[in-house]
Amino acid sequence: MTFAIVCVSDRCSKGMCEDKSGPLIKEMLTPFGKTAEYIIVPDEEQEIKKALVYLCDDVKVNVVFTTGGTGFSPRDVTPEATKAVMHRDAPGIAQAVLVKSLEITPKAMLSRAASVIRNNTLIINLPGSPKAVREALGFILPVLPHAVEVLSGNTLNCGGSY
Ligand code: MTE
Repeated sequence: MTFAIVCVSDRCSKGMCEDKSGPLIKEMLTPFGKTAEYIIVPDEEQEIKKALVYLCDDVKVNVVFTTGGTGFSPRDVTPEATKAVMHRDAPGIAQAVLVKSLEITPKAMLSRAASVIRNNTLIINLPGSPKAVREALGFILPVLPHAVEVLSGNTLNCGGSY
């Protein structure tokens, strides 16, 4: 599998703080494949959309993970940018993360994360904090190989264990 990571943060994009979640995502993905691109953008819908379209249409990675900008702050627009570039919705991933995360913290209900498909690429919004990333991505990873297999049209065995 090939991956791309988009850190969405005004502060990180200006060099005012270090992104800890992007490197964590990359580390957690290492056993599953290669991270081809890592991009940092501010909380601007146009810039997020531009990065997502580039990664899906030009780089053509299997999965794009965004981190940050999913909450209620007036600047949080990652889900809007993600839905604006989607071809098909894939709500089950975000819903599963929400349900599992609520078992850990009620604050999980404050994430508006989306999961969508553009072309043959899955785009998954993760929250911004390393703690939330570790938890949310941990729930997704066991199902990811099968998700990418099905999305690529190479379904071998839907009933098999993963
Ligand atoms: N999800 C998990 N699994 N663990 C968490 O600690 N934190 C929540 C939520 N989702 C959290 C979580 C909090 S406190 C917020 S404000 C939202 O994610 C939005 O985060 P973001 O704006 O950084 O994307």
